[in-house]
Amino acid sequence: MNVSIRVAKLAEVREGFVTLLKVAGKAVVLTRLGEDVFAFDGICTHAKYLLGTSRLVQGCQIECPVHGALFNGRTGAVEKGPAETPLPCIAARIEGEDVIIEADWPQQA
Ligand code: FES
Repeated sequence: MNVSIRVAKLAEVREGFVTLLKVAGKAVVLTRLGEDVFAFDGICTHAKYLLGTSRLVQGCQIECPVHGALFNGRTGAVEKGPAETPLPCIAARIEGEDVIIEADWPQQA
């Protein structure tokens, strides 16, 4: 079951950057492109290293700091290897001044 979690203020998610967060024990990266916010698993699909807070490459690509894979900042699709598997997307939306994600991993009480 998905749980809606407020993860940041919109103003804290810098346009043109990747923002790394820890949400209920899981690494999540956010990208902001214009007035849209996107969320992905924060672990690279190549060798399972943590992605980091960094500038988006060419304004819209998430770069893994370890071996340089590039992922589309809207879809998570691989745009340059060595990764072969897209970054898993997490549903994200803006509500007022807040960024909300739909998390399916928190443990139920
Ligand atoms: S761990 Fe990310 S490209 Fe290798």
